[in-house]
Amino acid sequence: MDSQRLKGQKALVTGAASGIGRGIARALAQAGAAVVVNYIGDSRPADEVVAEIQSAGGTALAIEADVSREDQVQKMFQKAIQAFGTLDILVNNAGIQRDAPFLQMTLEQWNTVLSVNLTGYFLCAREAAREFVRRGVVPSVSRAAGKIICISSVHEIIPWAGHCDYAASKGGIMMFMKTIAQELAPQRIRVNSIAPGAIKTAINRKAWDTPQAEANLLKLIPCGRVGIPEDIGSVAAWLASDDADYVTGATLIADGGMTLYPSFEHGG
Ligand code: BGC
Repeated sequence: MDSQRLKGQKALVTGAASGIGRGIARALAQAGAAVVVNYIGDSRPADEVVAEIQSAGGTALAIEADVSREDQVQKMFQKAIQAFGTLDILVNNAGIQRDAPFLQMTLEQWNTVLSVNLTGYFLCAREAAREFVRRGVVPSVSRAAGKIICISSVHEIIPWAGHCDYAASKGGIMMFMKTIAQELAPQRIRVNSIAPGAIKTAINRKAWDTPQAEANLLKLIPCGRVGIPEDIGSVAAWLASDDADYVTGATLIADGGMTLYPSFEHGG
């Protein structure tokens, strides 16, 4: 397989300073793409990702924006396009959890999660698609005018008690992704999702950072290991490439079998 299959392409990854986003930014850069590392707050982790990519010979740039704010998203895209000339790939990844039992969940928790995880995906996808349509297909770069990848979750399918805001946002991403995939396919824009299972990042540290917690988590993962950001990075690099040119409107589940109802292995 061509290890530089994204050569000459420009990507923007939201929430790329840590976790899955960082893994994806590195994987896209490794495949030859120039990468915008979006972050919010402390710039140091994003600068580190940029430095890592640059020291491996790649091109990267950190841009701060709160993805739930229209003005900030629009400014980020302007800066990215000014710096790189255009964009070919958007990875909607920035996501948060504000967990609470349903009876105690506050409107603030609900709104915060929905505005980052769902409205943020809408705002970034719209800016990216506008640029893809404006520029159109450049055959020497890619067969598509652009690629949008939404990082969803197994919780777009698996209900999750104590996390109704998060699960609702991920279920929403599924229909958002499919609907814009249908709408944008004639313009040669591909839109897909990756649904990770449990990946070792800060968002779910409590679920894997003690042997007891990890053993409990592994009961839900038939393949017998908790995922790492690289597991998602490699899927994203493939999905963004022309190797996946006929794939649109799909959710690619990368979960070590979590969605295979492991509790049904025996019984039922
Ligand atoms: C959540 C994690 C969780 C995983 C599997 C992810 O979407 O962010 O906290 O460990 O799903 O349940």
